[in-house]
Amino acid sequence: MKITMIGTGYVGLVSGTCLAEVGNHVLCLDTDAGKIARLQQGEVPIFEPGLEAMVRRNMAAGRLSFTTDVKAAAEFATMQFIAVGTPPDEDGSADLQYVLAAARGIAQHMTGFRVIVDKSTVPVGTADKVQAEIAATLQRRGSAHPFAVVSNPEFLKEGAAVEDFMRPDRIIVGASNEQAIALMRALYAPFQRNHERLVLTDVRSAELIKYAANAMLATRISFMNEMANLAERLGADIELVRRGIGSDPRIGYDFLYPGCGYGGSCFPKDVKALIRTAAIEAGIEMQVLKAVESANEAQKHVLAGKVRRRFGEDLHGRRFALWGLAFKPNTDDMREAPSRVLVADLLAAGAEIVAYDPVAMDEARRVLGAPSGLQFADSAMQAVEGADALLIATEWKEFRSPDFDTLRSTLRHPVIIDGRNLYDPALVRTLGLEYFPIGR
Ligand SMILES: NC(=O)c1ccc[n+]([C@@H]2O[C@H](COP(=O)([O-])OP(=O)(O)OC[C@H]3O[C@@H](n4cnc5c(N)ncnc54)[C@H](O)[C@@H]3O)[C@@H](O)[C@H]2O)c1
Repeated sequence: MKITMIGTGYVGLVSGTCLAEVGNHVLCLDTDAGKIARLQQGEVPIFEPGLEAMVRRNMAAGRLSFTTDVKAAAEFATMQFIAVGTPPDEDGSADLQYVLAAARGIAQHMTGFRVIVDKSTVPVGTADKVQAEIAATLQRRGSAHPFAVVSNPEFLKEGAAVEDFMRPDRIIVGASNEQAIALMRALYAPFQRNHERLVLTDVRSAELIKYAANAMLATRISFMNEMANLAERLGADIELVRRGIGSDPRIGYDFLYPGCGYGGSCFPKDVKALIRTAAIEAGIEMQVLKAVESANEAQKHVLAGKVRRRFGEDLHGRRFALWGLAFKPNTDDMREAPSRVLVADLLAAGAEIVAYDPVAMDEARRVLGAPSGLQFADSAMQAVEGADALLIATEWKEFRSPDFDTLRSTLRHPVIIDGRNLYDPALVRTLGLEYFPIGR
C-alpha cells in the first residue's frame, strides 16, 4: 500500500518507518525543513533503539522517503496519517492547530478518495473537527472528493517504540466507513499474524481510549508515589509493598514503581487535556485526575527535599553529581523530565550540579541552556569527582551496577539520593554509603 505520514516526530517517524518495513511505500511529510533535510541524508534526529538502521534500510529499498511538499504528500496516497504534535494550550487543553493545518493541507491538494487517519493524541470530538475542516476546504476548492476520517491512536512507548509498533498489544481503530475499515485492516494485518489485535470502535470511543489509558497509567504512578512517601514515614519498604500488592492478579506487577515523578511528552499533557475536556465539554470535574496531577507535581520536588534534609536549606558551596536527565531511559526526550525540576530546585538553593546522561546530553543542553552552576560531564564517574553526593533521576542500565567502592572514595560525602530505587538499600549501606531511595 501507499501511505502518507504527516509529522516525523517520535510517532510519525517510527510509524512511517515500521509501515515501510513490512513492504508499504511511505512518504513522510514535515514542515520542519531542517529535519527533512537530515532525514533525506539518512540521519535520524531522535534517539530510538533500532530506528536509524530501519530508516536507512527502507530508504535504500526505495520504500521510505521524506518531503516538505504538501501537494506531493496529499497526492501520494489514499491513506493519509496525521501524526503531528498536540502540545498543551495555555489552559491545558490540547492545541489542535497542527492537526487542523495538516487536514487543510490534505484537503487543498487531494486528488481522489482519501482516508484521513488521526494518529496524534487528540481530544474526543477532534475527528469531527477534522471532518469539518476538510469539508470546508474542499467546498472552497469547488471539489467533491469523497473522504473518511478515522481515529487510530498510537500506544508506542519512547525507548521501545519500534518494538511496540512492530508487536502491538492492541490496534485501536475508530471508524464507521466500511472502505476505510477494510483499508485499516489490510494495513495492520502484518502486525497481528499471531492473533487478532485490532479493536474496532466508534470514533469517539477510540479517541477516549487513548486518554483513558494514559490517565490510568499516570494514576498508578501517582498512587505508588504517594504510598512510597507514606511507607518512608511509617518505616515500611515500598518495594516489599509493591510485590505484596502486585501478586494480586487484579493489580499486577507492571507499572507500580515509585520514583521522582512522571514526565515525558504524553502523561503530563494528556492528563491535563483530559481534565480540561471533561470540564469544558461535559461540565465534569475529574477529581481523581486532578489529584494525580498535583501529586506528580509535588513528587518532582521530592529529591530536592531529600538533598535539603541531608545538607541543609542553603546549598551554596555544595556540588552534586546528577545521573540521568532524560525523562526515562532509552530516550533523549527531555520534555517535562523530573530532572529539570530537580536542577531548578538545586540551582535556586545555590548548589552546583555536574550532570551526565548516556544519550540526552545534547537535548539537555538545548532545553536547560547554560545556567550558572550547571555543568555537564563526559561520563558517569567524571560527574562524581569532587561532588558532595550523587543524585539519580533516570534509571539507565549503565547506572544499575556501579563500583560502589569507587563511589564511596570519590564522593566528598558517601551519599546517594536515588529517585529510581536502583539499588538494594541493605547492600549499599553495608558498603559504607548513606542511601536515600524513595519509600524504602
Ligand atoms: N511521543 C510519544 O511517545 C507518543 C506516543 C503516543 C502518542 N503520541 C502522540 O502523537 C503525537 C505526536 O507526538 P510526537 O512525540 O511524535 O511529536 P513530535 O513533537 O516529536 O513531532 C511532531 C512533528 O510534527 C511536525 N509538524 C507539525 N505541524 C505539521 C504539519 N502541519 N505538517 C507536517 N508536519 C508537522 C513537527 O515539525 C514535528 O516534527 C502527539 O499527539 C502525541 O501526544 C506521542
